[in-house]
Amino acid sequence: MSRKFLKEVLKSHDRIFSVIQGLEADLLTMLRDVSEIYNKEMSVIRHHLDIFLRIYEEELSLHFKSEEEAIFPYAKDQNLVGDLIKEHIVISDKIRELKKKREADPREAIDILKNIIDILKQHILKENTLYNEMSEYLTIKEMNEIRDRIKKIYSEDDAS
Ligand SMILES: [Fe+2]
Ligand SMILES: [Fe+2]
Repeated sequence: MSRKFLKEVLKSHDRIFSVIQGLEADLLTMLRDVSEIYNKEMSVIRHHLDIFLRIYEEELSLHFKSEEEAIFPYAKDQNLVGDLIKEHIVISDKIRELKKKREADPREAIDILKNIIDILKQHILKENTLYNEMSEYLTIKEMNEIRDRIKKIYSEDDAS
């Protein structure tokens, strides 16, 4: 069975993944020159934080909502769903912390950002496995319901 009914959410995973991979590569390069950049180029650090915060505003918050409200209710493994929802909360809390540190101490913010990236990568892999399993056992009717719910969540956002 195809995973077409999750098209928006899976495309969103791909976008989030490619952004965090790019950030990670940049961060690693940056950390090699740690003393120079950390001490002189606070604006470089802020720039990286802004890339991530933008993707959160534009993509991640809506993505979490789609999963929690449209997809997760249909999963058989509700223990796993509980863990995934907890991770959404942890990530959202860390992002709030990141915003505060962006102003106060961008160097500490980089550590938080690296931590968020690690959690997000694991999280996306777990979900991709779950969604593969779901596409095996969901009925066509259920898949259509999920697709409609996701579309509604994204279109409500467009309208606002
Ligand atoms: Fe998620
Ligand atoms: Fe996800």
